[in-house]
Amino acid sequence: KYEKIWLVFGMASLVLFLLIIGFAAFWKGTHPQSHIETIDPQNVEAHDAFKPENLGIREVADGKYIVNIVASAFNYDFGKDTEGTAIKTIRVPKGSTVLYQITTKDVVHGFQVAGTNVNMMVEPGHISRYETVMKNAGEFTIVCNEYCGIGHHQMYGTVEVY
Ligand code: CUA
Repeated sequence: KYEKIWLVFGMASLVLFLLIIGFAAFWKGTHPQSHIETIDPQNVEAHDAFKPENLGIREVADGKYIVNIVASAFNYDFGKDTEGTAIKTIRVPKGSTVLYQITTKDVVHGFQVAGTNVNMMVEPGHISRYETVMKNAGEFTIVCNEYCGIGHHQMYGTVEVY
């Protein structure tokens, strides 16, 4: 008699967990990347997206942006501004669709925009891509969440949604 109750409870829990996973994956958009392109980590500039002049943010259509980044120990390269200073803050209007494209020249890094659903692993030889809508205004800190060496904690940047 009691076994039956527990069996039903067990099945119900399983269905509930599957529903939660399904909700997270399809509703909130936390699914893994759909395609991964390869790249030579020794020569990332050979790829158009990662040429020095193409790094950082670019508007590709109305309200659509691409952000190209090259990660290396211990820095995110977003290109340089007109004065030749390394860019550390990406500014994007609220509600924009942003495609983040990132690769690494050396070891595995992470690319997480804290407080958003952008969270990628960046592996040498691959391009990690994630497109999302930046729904909320604010300053979001970019952090590396894969331990990559002595300067791991110094890898950071900012996405400012205004
Ligand atoms: Cu890069 Cu940790």
